[in-house]
Amino acid sequence: MSVEIHSFKTAKKILFGRGTLKQLGEEAKSIGVHRIAVITDPGVEKAGIVDKVIAVLAQEEIDYGLWNQVEPEPALSVGEAAIDFVRDEDYDSVLGLGGGSSLDTAKAAAAAVTNQGRLQDWVKEPFQRPPAPFILIPTTAGTGSEVSNAAVFATPEVKYALYSPLMYPDVALVEPGLTRTLPPSLTAYTGVDALCHALEAYVSLKASPITDILALKAISLVIKNIRSAYKDGKNMDARAGMALAALLAGMAFGNAGTVLGHACGYAYVYPATGLHFPHGYSIGTTMPYVLEYNALANLEKHTTIAELLGESTEGLSLRSSAFRCAVGFKKLLQDLDMPTSLQAVGVTRGMIPSIARNVFRSPKHVARNPRKVTVEGLVELFTKAYDGRLESERKLTS
Ligand SMILES: [Fe+2]
Repeated sequence: MSVEIHSFKTAKKILFGRGTLKQLGEEAKSIGVHRIAVITDPGVEKAGIVDKVIAVLAQEEIDYGLWNQVEPEPALSVGEAAIDFVRDEDYDSVLGLGGGSSLDTAKAAAAAVTNQGRLQDWVKEPFQRPPAPFILIPTTAGTGSEVSNAAVFATPEVKYALYSPLMYPDVALVEPGLTRTLPPSLTAYTGVDALCHALEAYVSLKASPITDILALKAISLVIKNIRSAYKDGKNMDARAGMALAALLAGMAFGNAGTVLGHACGYAYVYPATGLHFPHGYSIGTTMPYVLEYNALANLEKHTTIAELLGESTEGLSLRSSAFRCAVGFKKLLQDLDMPTSLQAVGVTRGMIPSIARNVFRSPKHVARNPRKVTVEGLVELFTKAYDGRLESERKLTS
């Protein structure tokens, strides 16, 4: 057991479970909410989720206002518009409701209630005062934003990531029932994102005994539930398992960080290729090849991953066992009808050198990766990803 000092941060309070939404009013009052701005997106409103939340606030006689203009992967201007809304209407607190984009926008809005300046200033120099009381309620099982201190504003052209030790929510309220209407494709993409958060946090050089326990539990919960949630969205046991997995994975990567998997997922979409895909989709496509690349750096942990992904390692050497993790991940992608090669998503072989160089646009992810990242190594990784062929599969069939 390591005796190094490890710190761990997360939301100030977490409420998880079916029926937690009923406690929203009580929780809001306990953190001093009088007039709350609900920050969300049109899809969440259309799914009827906003009505459910507002009904609870109204029942508790909490004054609220609705801002429903969050967009997927919001530009800085979306965050600035949300800031104008909370300032113009004198709200004293914020509720973020939706996927990662809505939750991140809500974090910025809560900071704007108590701080001068705008997002563009805070990216250069973070705000100094604690944000107004804020509550985050995820409606997907993937992002983990409800327990992190980051807010990302990213268009295909520009990415701004705002971090602050003050930006953990007062309450993260995770009600699995809110994911019931998520369509199968989004269930798969967001669930794969959560799995990648857990896998990457587990092998990160910043991993600790605390994040390892969370990551391992998250991986096993995803593997137990994601196929069922994808095939039958009304399976509430599977939905609850995925919601818990995403929460635990968020707590793990919120401290240990993600590594090469996320960096590769960012690298092959715009601007390298002009292609643009949902977050979990782009990361999942290259993940088998990232696992294969990283396996040598930590054979024990990659063997554990292989076994959690359902691969048999009986009779295999530690080295061969570790490489089975990549095969297990690829099988999962196939079961979720997701692509397993870059060729299948429209990347060409000629794009590989620029994609490889693009990985270094995520220097923190690269620095935390368990295996040293080189351009040559990445070209080989992306060539395998392009062909959709794992080394371990080749050896098995030759
Ligand atoms: Fe992610």
